[in-house]
Amino acid sequence: MEAMIQNISVGDLATAAVVLVGVAIIGMFLLKQPNSPPAVPGWPLIGNLLQLREKKPFLTFVKWAEDYGPIYSIRCGASSMIVLNSTELAKEALVTKFSSISTRKLSNALTTLTCNKALVAMSDYGEYHKTVKRYVLSSLLGSNAQKRNRHHRDSMIENVVTNLASKIKDADFCLVELREPFQSELFRLALKQSIGKDVESIYVEELCMTITKKEMLQILVIDPMMGAIEVDWRDFFPYLRWVPNNSMEIKIHQMATRKRAVTKALINEQSQHIARREEISYMDYLLSKETTLTEEQFIALVWESIIETSDTTLVTTEWAMYELSKNLKCQDRLYQEIQKVCGSKKFSEENIQHLPYLSAVFHETLRFHSPVSIIPPRHAHEDTQLGGYNIPAGSDIIINLYACNMHKKDWEEPESWKPERFLSDKYELMDMHKTMAFGGGKRACAGSLQAMLISCTAIGRLIQEFHWKLKDGEEDNIDTVQLTTHKRFPMQAYIRARGIEI
Ligand code: HEM
Ligand SMILES: *[C@@H]1O[C@H](CO)[C@@H](O)[C@H](O)[C@H]1NC(C)=O
Ligand SMILES: *[C@@H]1O[C@H](CO)[C@@H](O)[C@H](O)[C@H]1NC(C)=O
Repeated sequence: MEAMIQNISVGDLATAAVVLVGVAIIGMFLLKQPNSPPAVPGWPLIGNLLQLREKKPFLTFVKWAEDYGPIYSIRCGASSMIVLNSTELAKEALVTKFSSISTRKLSNALTTLTCNKALVAMSDYGEYHKTVKRYVLSSLLGSNAQKRNRHHRDSMIENVVTNLASKIKDADFCLVELREPFQSELFRLALKQSIGKDVESIYVEELCMTITKKEMLQILVIDPMMGAIEVDWRDFFPYLRWVPNNSMEIKIHQMATRKRAVTKALINEQSQHIARREEISYMDYLLSKETTLTEEQFIALVWESIIETSDTTLVTTEWAMYELSKNLKCQDRLYQEIQKVCGSKKFSEENIQHLPYLSAVFHETLRFHSPVSIIPPRHAHEDTQLGGYNIPAGSDIIINLYACNMHKKDWEEPESWKPERFLSDKYELMDMHKTMAFGGGKRACAGSLQAMLISCTAIGRLIQEFHWKLKDGEEDNIDTVQLTTHKRFPMQAYIRARGIEI
């Protein structure tokens, strides 16, 4: 026996290894399930990972659809992902097949940032998700809760208008950026809703320092949104997760620690005053529920409501104002509609339902500049079928919203921004799901009502008060960054008070 082993040369071993790997690869193809979706060929082991390195994978996904059709599979290391390129398939996955495709699959970075699935948006589907989604709807995002918070939204819009008006010096057009005032007012609103109070600065014990409101915004919202996109290649290889990547891990870990420390400081500050408050914030509500929530889950949920309020609504409103400042005919049409309905009264939330064109502007902006271009991946926990193909348990389902919203089959001239398309009888005025921008089915966005109320009121009021005209050269400034397709450079436009007609 020993002699036999000694007789085997290194060369033989190498040959054997090559043959074994070869057999394994052929085996993988032979074992491929019958009736699987077409597969995009990639490198053995790493699959299509290298092809996805850039930060706009939704474009790569569309390119692959040209060759492999509206549903296809890719491999990223150990996971198999099914990519969907049409609204019809997206609806099948989100609504019809919900019972098999209802949990989320998270990258390492996201797992750290979301406190291991404690957020409503990122939790597995089950009792925990049902409970916390009920909490957030009844105390914060459902229609009754939104009615209670109405005065916060009113003062938010008022402050944005006052801020912009204060920049106007004379009857001339004046150059402004909407992002800064809108973002800081939106953050103020988030704090009022979530912890019950707007806070100018706070001492953070765990960081041993006092931080300003601006730093709070950075730590609670801006940094984590950047961190969420840091997809780490080791995420796709569960068996490589032990390989440390210090720079990445330290960065994400620091982000998570800092935002937790700041949220905790805000909570502590507020809990001391709870008895004296008339209004019940989201945080008070969670505390009063005497739930089984752990401290970590509680902190994570309060933080979630802050970051979700502060990000996507800003993105949508800025893009809508960009389009209206660029398409002056549309701006005029909207202004006429507002004048007809409001006359000399200030535009307010009740007017939204009487303004079909405003609603069309909002939905067309969601279609054309969807803040979420790829729905956070869902996970098939059991075998199922999509588009007639077999989908094995364990696959991740990727819905390319960008592709759904740009499809020639569903949209006429999809590459132009045309609010008029939503005025046809085909669409109900108050239907929030004219596009798939808010996802669909039981896990659809919980904040769509709030996003619509804030964004539509802001657009209505801003157009009622000012003439908007895009700065020269801004027309093609449409590059996007971050997970939620922020406009890369803040929109710059000239405004002039409407009162002064020349
Ligand atoms: C224009 C603004 C917004 C857009 C485009 C948007 C989009 C989305 C999308 C695509 C999903 C995933 C849905 C799915 O998997 O089917 C989602 C989930 C969610 N969104 Fe939004 N969202 C917006 C604003 C907000 C706001 C303002 C809040 C809260 C303050 C919010 C809270 C949530 C929550 C809690 C979920 C998770 C729902 C669940 O998993 O059951 N969203 N959103
Ligand atoms: C480690 O993480 C950093 C920061 O994200 C990244 O630039 C680097 O490429 C990663 N290193 C490896 C070996 O993956
Ligand atoms: C994929 O989506 C893009 C963008 O909507 C569309 O142009 C293309 O026709 C789609 N391809 C298939 C095969 O569905």
